[in-house]
Amino acid sequence: MPRCVVGTVSELPPGTRKIVVVGGRSIGVFNIRGRFYALRNRCPHQGAPLCLGKIKGTTLPGKPYEYVYGRDQEIIRCPWHGWEFEIATGRTYFNPHRMRVKTYDVTVERPESDDVTLETFEVTTEGELVILHA
Ligand code: FES
Repeated sequence: MPRCVVGTVSELPPGTRKIVVVGGRSIGVFNIRGRFYALRNRCPHQGAPLCLGKIKGTTLPGKPYEYVYGRDQEIIRCPWHGWEFEIATGRTYFNPHRMRVKTYDVTVERPESDDVTLETFEVTTEGELVILHA
């Protein structure tokens, strides 16, 4: 599985996203409350750039005429027709078992430069790296 350095953790603070191209595929990497997720940047409905959509919450089940907003920052809304997807799983909110967008693993790792074994120097890093496994 190819690995791609997306950037440092500090370059992708909570509430932000970054779109990268890996192996010809456009992928959006999101920091949602300090956790990282990645989605294919192509809506399964008609191919819109899904990762450019609004990040928001949604209306939760409730009593008739009662509107309960929740899951703030967990849902992305397609910019073309408004289908909603869970950022963590890629599943649509309206049909989670049949319709989804591909997700990818994201890890946070220390730079390999810490593995110096011959001659050592004092090294400082600017944080950890965000790695996309596409
Ligand atoms: S292309 Fe995304 S909802 Fe239609």
